This record gives sequence, C-alpha cells and structure tokens, in this order.
Amino acid sequence: MRKILLETGFSNSEIFCGTGAFEARAKGYACGQVCVITDTNVNALYGELINKTFPECFLTVIPAGEESKNPKTLLKILNDMLKRGMHRNCTVIAFGGGVVGDIAGLAASLYMRGVSLVQIPTTLLSQVDSSVGGKTAVDLNGVKNVIGTFYQPKEVIVDPLFLKTLPPREINCGLGEIVKYGALDGAIYKKLNENINNLRDYGFLEEITYDCILYKADIVKRDERDDKGLRKALNLGHTTGHAFELNYGGRSHGEFVLIGMYYELYIAVKRGICGGQYAEALKNLIYEVLGAMPCYPNISDAAKAAVHDKKNDDADIALILPVSEGEWTELKLGLKEYTRYLKECASEFRGLL
Ligand code: GLY
Repeated sequence: MRKILLETGFSNSEIFCGTGAFEARAKGYACGQVCVITDTNVNALYGELINKTFPECFLTVIPAGEESKNPKTLLKILNDMLKRGMHRNCTVIAFGGGVVGDIAGLAASLYMRGVSLVQIPTTLLSQVDSSVGGKTAVDLNGVKNVIGTFYQPKEVIVDPLFLKTLPPREINCGLGEIVKYGALDGAIYKKLNENINNLRDYGFLEEITYDCILYKADIVKRDERDDKGLRKALNLGHTTGHAFELNYGGRSHGEFVLIGMYYELYIAVKRGICGGQYAEALKNLIYEVLGAMPCYPNISDAAKAAVHDKKNDDADIALILPVSEGEWTELKLGLKEYTRYLKECASEFRGLL
C-alpha cells in the first residue's frame, strides 16, 4: 500500500493505494457516526463486508446506474441523514463507483455545510479518476454534472480487491481513462506501450492506477478549482466523447472517452498539432481496449451536443489535444469546422472497415 498526499490551498486529501488498503484503513471508521452510501449492485456484492467493517453505520442504498445521479436522489440521501440524526461530525463513506462517489460527495459537501467524506471506489474508473480530486455532482434535465461542488475527501481508499468482481466492460471503462492519462503523461504512455499485451492484468492495473492518481493529484494540487487552465487537461477525449455518449449511448463512459480521443486525434493530425506516428501509437492503444471503432450515423447531430460541453465559451468547441509524449494543447473550433472534421474522420475509418 502506498500513500499520496493531495494538498490543496483549502484542504488535504490522503489517498491510500494498493492491495491491503481497505483492510488497513477502513477499520478506522468502524466507530462514530458513519453513513455509508452505496448502490444496489455494490450492496449485493459487498453488503456483508460493509456490515462487518462498519457495524454501527447507517447504510443508504441507491438504485445502481447513471439515472440515480439526480437532485431527487440527492435530497433523499440528505433527508435520510437528517431523519437518522446525523450530526456535523459524522462521516459519509462513498462506497461504490463514479455515480455513488459523485452524489455521496455532493451530499457530504452540503449536509450541515459540509461533513467528513471518505471515498472507497470500487470500479476501475472511480479508482483511477473520479474518486480523486474532489469533484462532486448530480445531473439536471439531462445535462451532466450541472449541480456540483469542489469538496476534497478526507481520505480515498483505492484497493484492487474490488476489481475482481467487475465485468470486462467495467474494466474497459477504466482503461479508457487510463489511456487518456497515457496521452497526457509520457511515463504512463511508455508503461502502457510496454504492457500493451497485458493491460487487463490485475497487477498491472494496480501499478498504473497509482501512476494515474499521482499524475492527477499533481494537477489538482495546482488547479483544484479548474480555473487555472491545467485541470482541464483531464478532459482530453471528453468533449467529443460526451457528445457521442449523449447521442448514441450503449457503451461505458470510458469507452466513449476513447472514441472521442480517436476523433480528436484525427483533428490534431489534420491541424498539424500531433505527429502521425504518435497519433498512430495512441490509436493502437485505443484499439487494444475497444477492439474496433463503432460506426455511428448522423454525426452532425452528435457534434451539436459538444457545444453544451462546460469547457466552451460561446460557440467555440474546446478540445484538449495530444501534441507529443507528455505534451498537450487546447484548440478551439467553431461548430461548422468541428462537424466537418468529425464527418471526415468517420468516413475515413468506415472506409477501413
Ligand atoms: N475527471 C476530471 C477531473 O476530475 O477534473
């Protein structure tokens, strides 16, 4: 088990990573007023472990899935906490994937103006990305993450123990974010290429998860509130990925990040931002995770959804693009030009299939 200290100007977060982290750290929350928030899927798998580890906790279980990430579920959590008499020095434990982490984090940040938060992420995606850095949110009227706060968890416990029960699609989802980190950081890129044939190996995942968290913690330290132009790098692949996710669905978030990255790499090469060889190597990693690129209809409609992306001002669509190993840049495009590139890219790989 290794420890990463994420110190921001406002608060500190201790992140414990690796085999044995749960065993070593979770028992520290066995006593006191503790509210564990999880979902139906995680509770079916780990309900017994939760009861054994936190015998006095108040357990609140939300329905599994993105649909739970809404103000109604948030209010239900807060209402339940109030009814149970949770006081200001209680601890909220988010035990689950990204949705549980986001909504439990938001509830912890709001309840009595903020109570202690511990994240115990159980999916690869939440371990490698969403449980770290203090972003909390629910969606509103179909728009992602509109209601949210920055609220650092006091502690994040990242244990590969929970990966063993994940279906392959969930591993792919986390790998999507891991490949994104590879497009941002030279050392992660190198490690991914050296291990391209065993990306799903649990030992490798434990190692690369630590590397990605270390990279993210360094960014968050310097730009916690996402207003200094650094943290937005973590959205590489997400502008187009989110737009496609909204329009087409049927795949995990991390897979859409990879699909978005593929299209955005096309733009980066066309604009002379990224060299062809490096782009091919990144595409190789994308293919290794996705298998094949899906063909989607009505690309122009999907492109319009990118305008709603929160990084954009006015009509510009902001893209975080890879330049070379460990280097990235931002490009702003008008909708017309962006749509043209997406269509060109789609027709190019359709031709290859
Ligand atoms: N997942 C992007 C961020 O935490 O900023």
